[in-house]
Amino acid sequence: MILNENVDRKIIPVAGGKGGVGKSVIAANLALSMCLYGKKTILVDLDLGGSNIHTLLGLRNINPGIGNFVSNRKYSINELLSPTEWENLYFIPGDVLVYGIGELNKSVKARIIKGLLDIEADYIIVDLGGGTNFTVIDFFLISNSGLIVTTPQAISIMNAYSFLKNYVFRFLQRVFAADKLISSYFRKTLKERQPGDRKTVTDMISDIKSIDSTLGNKADAFLEVLQPKLILNRIVGIEDASLAEGLRDLCAQNLSINLEGLGTVMNEEIVNRSVNLQRPFILDNEENIATAEIHRIAQKIIQSGNFPKMPLELDYYADSFELIHIEMENDLAAIQGNVKNTDSQVNYDVDKLLELIRIQQGKIQELQGTVRMLSISE
Ligand SMILES: Nc1ncnc2c1ncn2[C@@H]1O[C@H](COP(=O)(O)OP(=O)(O)OP(=O)(O)O)[C@@H](O)[C@H]1O
Ligand SMILES: [Mg+2]
Repeated sequence: MILNENVDRKIIPVAGGKGGVGKSVIAANLALSMCLYGKKTILVDLDLGGSNIHTLLGLRNINPGIGNFVSNRKYSINELLSPTEWENLYFIPGDVLVYGIGELNKSVKARIIKGLLDIEADYIIVDLGGGTNFTVIDFFLISNSGLIVTTPQAISIMNAYSFLKNYVFRFLQRVFAADKLISSYFRKTLKERQPGDRKTVTDMISDIKSIDSTLGNKADAFLEVLQPKLILNRIVGIEDASLAEGLRDLCAQNLSINLEGLGTVMNEEIVNRSVNLQRPFILDNEENIATAEIHRIAQKIIQSGNFPKMPLELDYYADSFELIHIEMENDLAAIQGNVKNTDSQVNYDVDKLLELIRIQQGKIQELQGTVRMLSISE
C-alpha cells in the first residue's frame, strides 16, 4: 500500500460496493478535471470484466490494456498509456480486447499493482468494478486514500458500508499476517460466526487488546493509516447529507476508521446524457452544478499537497461533513436561484423543483428506514 500523503505521485482508486452508482462517470470526469488544472493524470480502467470507461471519454477500444498486460508478459505498463485529446490525460484500457481473464490470482494482482506503481504521473485514478470481492478490495488497498462513491439510496449506502467493512478487515488480516496469535484469532472468529453475530471490527480490536495490549494499540495505529474519502453522488436534496453522516458514524463506531466526506454530485440529466454522447459532461456544461462539483472535488485533492489530508480551510469546520453540508445547501440554492434567471428556464426549473419535492418526501421515508437499518445492522 502506498501512503498518498508522503509521495508526489498519488494513486486514487475509486470503488463503491454497488454497481451503477456513478464510479466510472465520476472517475473519468475527475481525471479530466485534474488534467485541465495542469496535472498529469492517468485514468486506469481496472473494472476487469466490465471495462467501459473508454466509452465515457469517447475513445475507441483499439489499444492494448490491462487484459493484454495480464495475458502477455511482453507488455510493460508504460506501453499501455494511450494519449487522449487532452495533453495531460492518458488512459489505460481494461480488458476489452482480451475476454475472460477471470478471477485474478495473487501473482497477477501483484504484477498489476507493481505496474501501477511504475507509472510516472501526478495522479493515477483507478476505476474499479462494483461488488466487494477480494480483487476489488485488493486494488482499493493499493493506496491508503481511495474514493468511495455511493448514492443516497439505502441499498447503496449499505453496500458502501459492507465494502468498507471487508476492506478494513482484509487490511487488518494482512497487517497481522505474520502474527500467529492474531491470525488464528481472526480465523477462529470468522469460523465460529453464527447468523446474527454482530462482532464489529471495533469489538475485534478490543479482543486483540485483551490478548495483547501492545498489539491492540498497534492495530489502532494501523487503522489510522486508512483514509478513504466519500463522494455522495446523485443527490437531490439536503436530507441526503444525513445518510452520508450515518455512514460516517457507523464507520467510526463499528470499523474504527475515520471516513471523510470529499464532496457531492447532484443528480443531473446532463450526466446521464453525457454517457450516451460518449463525452465527459464537464466539457460542454460549464454552467451546470455537477460540473462545478467535479471541479471542486478535483481542487480539494490538488490543493491538498498532502492528500488525503484535507486543505487548510477544513480547520474552520467541525469535520469534512459540515463543509459538505454547506456546499450542498449552496448548490441547491444555486439551482433554485436559476428559476428566476430566464423565462425559458422557468418551466423547466419549476417542474424540476416539484419533482425534487416529490422525491424528497420519498427520500425522507427512505432515510428514516435506513437510519433504523444502519443502527441495527453491523
Ligand atoms: N450525478 C448523476 N446524475 C445523473 N445520472 C447519473 C449521475 N451519476 C451517474 N449517473 C447515471 O448512472 C449510470 C451509471 O454510472 P456509472 O457507469 O459511472 O456507474 P458505475 O458505478 O461505474 O457502474 P458499474 O459498477 O457498472 O461500473 C450512468 O450511465 C449515468 O446514466
Ligand atoms: Mg463503472
